[in-house]
Amino acid sequence: MLIDGYGRKIDYLRVSVTERCNFRCQYCMPEKPFSWVPRENLLSFEDLFKFIKVAIDEGIKKIRITGGEPTLRHDLDKFIKMIYDYKSDIDLALTTNGYLLAESAQKLADAGLKRINISLDSLKPEVAEKIAQKDVLSNVLEGIENSLKAGLKVKINMVPLKGINDNEIVDILDFCKERGIQVRFIEYMENSYASNDIKGLNGKEILEKIKEKYVIKKIGREGSSPAFHYKLEDGYIFGLIDPHKHDFCENCNRIRLTAEGYLIPCLYFDEAMSIKEAIEAGDIQKATQIMKEVIRNKPEKNRWSEEEAQTSNRAFYETGG
Ligand code: 5AD
Ligand code: SF4
Repeated sequence: MLIDGYGRKIDYLRVSVTERCNFRCQYCMPEKPFSWVPRENLLSFEDLFKFIKVAIDEGIKKIRITGGEPTLRHDLDKFIKMIYDYKSDIDLALTTNGYLLAESAQKLADAGLKRINISLDSLKPEVAEKIAQKDVLSNVLEGIENSLKAGLKVKINMVPLKGINDNEIVDILDFCKERGIQVRFIEYMENSYASNDIKGLNGKEILEKIKEKYVIKKIGREGSSPAFHYKLEDGYIFGLIDPHKHDFCENCNRIRLTAEGYLIPCLYFDEAMSIKEAIEAGDIQKATQIMKEVIRNKPEKNRWSEEEAQTSNRAFYETGG
């Protein structure tokens, strides 16, 4: 079992397989980075899998694959199958913008993927295009439908932005409700890579919009989920992710691995350690030692909710949110 310095059990690993993305979301990567990480600096799927085996053996029970946009990486389904074949009861999930899912959802499900979180910020083509800076909506909607057909458990993420898509909060909620899928509204998290022209809604403002149509009841957090859950009168449950509050760090159970092999203990923590050399040299013992050190040093809470650290220098596309 993996326990951090504050007694939290760490059983959730997020693996970013690429920082590259085919969208340019205003809140994440509005401009193409000056340079991408050279491909030779990325860990191969074989090497990532070597580390994942260790992590599973040590107590990781849930793995989420993120990016950038993870479906851009070739043979993602084979990587998923490697993990599934090693431990079929692992909670195996993917976070994606959905653009390429129309063709790949079935393949990913067949490989052993169980759950998928898809970003959907608008149901209007021109608004979706304004946010992602690309005409994306029809592909994303087809990706959502095909994921459902493939039997994947789907969740939708929406980041409400003032004057852009905040009048669609209820529409997106209804879209998800009709399909029996959960939506999570995410407070925009300021970061130095995002566009300067956007402003997010806070949790209270998001709930106000929903209350214009529905009566909502607080449920609470489930386990280590960063989402706070609410229920409508008909029983439909949605989530709100509000990292501006400290309390979701109390039960944090996750660590992150970047495509280059950095293990990061917390979203807004600048201390990370690389496992790349150890893994590439086949030194599993050393990689395990590094993992344990990173977990031991995991900070108590995300520094981003502190006044002076409002703007993170860590790009979301490196750690997959
Ligand atoms: N603030 C809030 N959420 C973000 N995401 C990406 N960047 C940000 C940000 N700055 C979310 C997207 C996507 C997930 C991968 O991370 O909504 O669903
Ligand atoms: Fe790409 Fe996701 Fe970032 Fe949008 S939020 S630019 S889809 S990584």
